[in-house]
Amino acid sequence: MAKTKHVLSPKVSLILFNIFIVAATAAASTTAGTNGFDSQSFKISRPWPFKKLNKPVVLMISCDGFRFGYQFKTDTPNIDLLISRGTEAKHGLISVFPTMTFPNHYSIATGLYPAYHGIIMNKFTDPVTGEVFNKGLQPKWWLGEPLWVTAANQGLKAVTYFWPGSEVPKGSWTCPEGYCPHFNLSIPLEERVDSVLSHFDRPEDEIPDLLMLYFDEPDQSGHNYGPDDPRVTIAVSRVDKMIGRVIKGLKKREIFDEVHVIVLGDHGMVTNCECDEKAIYIDDLADWIKIPSAWIQSYSPVLAISPQWDKNVENQGEKNAEVVAKMNEALSSGKVKNGEFLKVYLKEKLPERLHYSESYRIPPIIGMVGEGLIVRKNRTNAQVCYGDHGYDNQLFSMRTIFVGHGSRFSRGKKVPSFENVQIYNVVAEILGLRPAPNNGSSLFPRSILLPFGATRDLK
Ligand SMILES: *[C@@H]1O[C@H](CO)[C@@H](O)[C@H](O)[C@H]1NC(C)=O
Ligand SMILES: *[C@@H]1O[C@H](CO)[C@@H](O)[C@H](O)[C@H]1NC(C)=O
Ligand SMILES: *[C@@H]1O[C@H](CO)[C@@H](O)[C@H](O)[C@H]1NC(C)=O
Ligand SMILES: [Zn+2]
Repeated sequence: MAKTKHVLSPKVSLILFNIFIVAATAAASTTAGTNGFDSQSFKISRPWPFKKLNKPVVLMISCDGFRFGYQFKTDTPNIDLLISRGTEAKHGLISVFPTMTFPNHYSIATGLYPAYHGIIMNKFTDPVTGEVFNKGLQPKWWLGEPLWVTAANQGLKAVTYFWPGSEVPKGSWTCPEGYCPHFNLSIPLEERVDSVLSHFDRPEDEIPDLLMLYFDEPDQSGHNYGPDDPRVTIAVSRVDKMIGRVIKGLKKREIFDEVHVIVLGDHGMVTNCECDEKAIYIDDLADWIKIPSAWIQSYSPVLAISPQWDKNVENQGEKNAEVVAKMNEALSSGKVKNGEFLKVYLKEKLPERLHYSESYRIPPIIGMVGEGLIVRKNRTNAQVCYGDHGYDNQLFSMRTIFVGHGSRFSRGKKVPSFENVQIYNVVAEILGLRPAPNNGSSLFPRSILLPFGATRDLK
């Protein structure tokens, strides 16, 4: 992946600018005969965009499970303010497949599809070692180079607050105390916001360049009650108030127009029901093929099957293909309830757009489950509805929001939907970082950011 080229990198221009300041100060001291440091004129002589801060800063905020459209449920004056004064993905941000929390947060952070960053699901088994990944922090699971590592490796300061993967030590990033609190959902959202804001009160040369903050709402409410429940509306309103707290804190410090605030989510949410009308039962395929439960790594929203053939079975690939063929035959027979809402693939045969094959960690057989459907072993007579995500990232219900505000984002600009793997390069461009290889386009930042040094209407 070609590196994004700055016309003038922020660092170089800052050096040039500092030389200018030194020269100006020297001139002032000779003419005025003072010590030459007049902070008033110093400030005025600084060119936009850096009035108060002396460098670009990015504050990224993830609102877990903020489905695109939630912002129309209720008044969201703070998100609306960022949208009207910033740049928005008009029809939402496209998640990566599977549209789950850990794969998506880590795609946002690394610019890589899950097959390349290794977090292929929230929970999975390594087929070679048999070890189970379940949101653990051992570095071996977490491939690629997330933004906080890129920043640390290149001498910038990062702060993470509960961002999935950020507690994993990697490169120059050690998850330093005071800059990387340990995940604890009991910490109120207010405290998270205030803690992140407090970093702006540090001495100038200690202010972080990159801050990444995580809110677990409105995901929790969406799962518990389903996206259409009024309690989700309350959660959306609460998240908006937290964004308001961020804005207020930045305004108080007179840096609201300078800090690049990016508000986004990881995926959407759709109503799910544990009931026959919305379920597909694996045991219903038994007349065609019996799938042992031990083969099934995950039922839904992604059906993942790792056949456990005897070691001496040859052509396991062909056997897997037979399983897929038999399953699809059953599902399309018209005799399996809701069979038309499940399609099974060898992972290599999944639609290219999903980029979900190039990892030994992805189970060999993947079933794409229809929107809002569930897959279960057999009937349970349950009757309960809730919310879930993880489905095909092409579904509108799996989309989330993206809005960027700050010096490099145009006011009131709408951009077409894009995949979240593009965000890594955008942040790297703003911070003047050399991006690690990733799946975003090196040209993308130009389509969404103002050129470096461009001026922007303030009031
Ligand atoms: C999580 O935060 C709560 C509230 O501050 C605290 O009481 C608790 O000890 C913390 N848990 C862990 C594991 O640190
Ligand atoms: C469902 O599966 C469980 C576990 O295999 C079995 O014990 C139970 O009898 C099955 N129920 C039905 C209705 O087939
Ligand atoms: C994604 O990026 C990785 C790292 O550069 C690369 O190996 C892989 O081929 C890319 N995949 C796609 C689909 O672009
Ligand atoms: Zn999530």
